[in-house]
Amino acid sequence: MDELLSLKTAFLEEIDPVTTLAELQQIKNKYSGRKGLLTARLKALSSVPPDQRPLYGKTLNEIKDFIEETLGHKELLLKGREKEKRLLTEKIDITLPGRYTRFGRKHPINQVLSEIKDIFVSMGFGIEDGPEIELDYYNFEALNIPKDHPARDMQDTFYISDDVVLRTHTSPVQVRVMEKRKPPLKIIVPGKVYRCDADVSHTPMFHQVEGLMIDSDISFGDLKGVIELFFHSFFGKGTPVRFRPSYFPFTEPSAEVDIGCIFCAGKGCRICKTTGWLEVLGCGMVHPRVFEMAGYDPEEHSGFAFGMGVERLTMLKYSIDDIRLFYENDLRFLEQF
Ligand code: PHE
Repeated sequence: MDELLSLKTAFLEEIDPVTTLAELQQIKNKYSGRKGLLTARLKALSSVPPDQRPLYGKTLNEIKDFIEETLGHKELLLKGREKEKRLLTEKIDITLPGRYTRFGRKHPINQVLSEIKDIFVSMGFGIEDGPEIELDYYNFEALNIPKDHPARDMQDTFYISDDVVLRTHTSPVQVRVMEKRKPPLKIIVPGKVYRCDADVSHTPMFHQVEGLMIDSDISFGDLKGVIELFFHSFFGKGTPVRFRPSYFPFTEPSAEVDIGCIFCAGKGCRICKTTGWLEVLGCGMVHPRVFEMAGYDPEEHSGFAFGMGVERLTMLKYSIDDIRLFYENDLRFLEQF
C-alpha cells in the first residue's frame, strides 16, 4: 500500500514541471501505457494476499483514475497553450500595405497586329501562316526570283544552307496556300520575317502582313479599294492614299502605296523627307509566272497581293522614331501602350 501511495506522489512530482506534449506522452507511457507501472500492478493483483486484495484493488483503481484524469487535464492545458503560442507567432499584420502585382499587357506590335487582323477579317479575309525557316524555293524561286536575279540583293538574306533561308518576307506563304487550295482565295498572313540589317529603321527580325485575293475577275480597282479602306480604318477616314508605280518580280503591274504624311499633314517635314508622303506598303497584281508555278491557270484567274511592315505602321501611328525601342524590353516604353 505504501508503495502504491508513493507511486502517486512520484507521478505528481514528475508531471508538475512538464511543459510540452512530447514530455507528457513519455509520462503517459511510463504510467498508463501497455507496459506502464499501473498496468504491471493490475496484472500483479492476484499475488496480493486475499484479505488485503479488496482494499489494495480499490486504492489501485482510484490511483489509476486519478493519474488518467490528471494526464487528461494536463494534455488539454498544454494543447491550449501551444495553440495560443501558434496564434501569437502566426499572426498576420493586416495593416501592412498589399504586395504590388504588375499587370502584363500586349506588346505594341501585337496590339497593332490584332488591329490589322480585325480590319481585314471584317472585310472577309481569312488568316493563314507559314514557316519562318523557309525553302529558298518558296522565298525566291516560286516568286519569280531565280538564283541569279538581281532582286535577291534587295533583301539581305540569312542563309541556313544553300537552299534554306530565314524568310525575308511573308510572300512565300502566297505560294504555299495556292498549292494547297483552289481559288477563290482571300487571305492575310501576319508573321515574322528576317533580314540582315540593323539601324534606326531596321531590326534583323520584324513583322509583315501579307495579303492575297484571287478569283476569276479581280482587278487593280479591287486592290485600290481594299488598300484604301484598310488605311482609312487604320489611320483615319481622311488619310490621303496614293499608288506609285514600282517593281516586284512577283507582281505585274506593281505599286508602292504612300499615305499623306501624318506628322506634317502633307506640308513636308523631316520624317517624310519634305515630300509630304510616307511609303507604307508594296503591292501589285499577281504575276502570271507565279500563278503557273503554283499550278493556277493565269488565263482563268487573276488576283492581287500586298505586303506591309507592321513596325513601320506602328511607328507612324504612335510617332516613334527608333524601331529598336520595340525590342529593348524597356518597361517605361512598353507601358505607354
Ligand atoms: N514581299 C514584298 C516585300 O517584302 C512586299 C510585297 C508583297 C510586294 C506582295 C508585292 C506583293 O517587300
